[in-house]
Amino acid sequence: MYYQDTGGRQILDAAAGLWCVNAGHGREEIARAVSDQLLTLDYSPAFQMGNPVTMEAAERLARLLPDGLDTVFFTNSGSEAVETALKIARTYHVARGEPHRTRLIGRNRGYHGVNFGGLSVGGIARNKQGFGPLLAEVDHLVDTHDLQRNQFCKGLPEHGAERADDLLRLIKLYGAETIAAVIVEPVAGSTGVLVPPQDYLDRLRAICSAHGILLIFDEVITAFGRLGAPFAAQRFGVTPDLITMAKGLTNGVIPMGAVGMVGSIRDTIFAAAPDGIELFHGYTYSGHPVAAAAAIATLDIYEREDLFARAAGLASRWTDALLTLRNEPHVIDIRTDGLVGGIEVAPGDGGPGKRGFSIFQACYARGVLTRVTGDIIALSPPLIVTEDQIDQIVETIVTVLRAAA
Ligand SMILES: Cc1ncc(COP(=O)(O)O)c(C=O)c1O
Repeated sequence: MYYQDTGGRQILDAAAGLWCVNAGHGREEIARAVSDQLLTLDYSPAFQMGNPVTMEAAERLARLLPDGLDTVFFTNSGSEAVETALKIARTYHVARGEPHRTRLIGRNRGYHGVNFGGLSVGGIARNKQGFGPLLAEVDHLVDTHDLQRNQFCKGLPEHGAERADDLLRLIKLYGAETIAAVIVEPVAGSTGVLVPPQDYLDRLRAICSAHGILLIFDEVITAFGRLGAPFAAQRFGVTPDLITMAKGLTNGVIPMGAVGMVGSIRDTIFAAAPDGIELFHGYTYSGHPVAAAAAIATLDIYEREDLFARAAGLASRWTDALLTLRNEPHVIDIRTDGLVGGIEVAPGDGGPGKRGFSIFQACYARGVLTRVTGDIIALSPPLIVTEDQIDQIVETIVTVLRAAA
């Protein structure tokens, strides 16, 4: 649960590094698996062949995925997983004889990594500036944030399911027959923790299904127990067609991402290429055996220590603890789900983001690592966090907020 700074001070990790160290730091089982793998099979090509350890990682992952998603494509990061999913969505429609379905729909405030596809469907304006034209034929849904109606809500926000109907506006504008896929984060993380309103994801699912549009959940931060279930899809009871993931897949120790997909997408793409290469896409390090070994060891820990259930069990304690901050200086909203929390403060006199950043710095100075985005402090501790450590995180933030008042 701790880092040590260069002066030897203990820093409690309330951010799981960068939303990835779900099993906590210094897990010897993972280090040993990596080291053993390096001495067994250090590399093998992923094109036209496979190896047992990568196959095992794929099988293990497929068992965790929601029912119906039984196929895995490995990448090396969340950004690559997003690019891969977007390309699979387009090529799937080509394979099924609808090549004009090329449009990709993201959502305002969405974050899908830093490559051109992910940037294009992403909805954070600053991330796009300075890089020239992005993908054409992309549009965005309205975001789900409704501070006025859902402020300080406990549990999923009551208001906002109707925002999924914004997809109907885009369908009317462009025609469903031009839209390949919709990609959303079930809980938007990087923009500052936006939890989906009740029934929002179900509604989005229903509209996509009714119009032949693929639904992609970007679960790079929500997978692997963050919300108390293997994936957010299971947490919310909504099954997408594709899921992107990374981070907690290897507990953050070795770069690895993946795309999970329903078998019918794989079958359709394979059927369209009976004699050749099915998907002209892949990376030198796709399914790298060392990353695969790290993933298997990580999944072993999650299973053995029942960490997803642990997160689910702590969720209400976590929410109650964070909500005690609601009357502290500057706090204008608190959003939680599973072991994620977002504390939004009013912008200070120095302009947007300044107060958030100074709170982040002051927490670090007091021995707690958080994450800041604008004026929102984002929290996502490793799933092994104890109740005492939750209290320490909250008490540190209280002290910092009061000192800043
Ligand atoms: C939802 C989401 N998608 C994609 C990414 C990009 O992942 P990576 O930084 O591994 O490329 C992130 C990273 O935080 C993310 O939160």
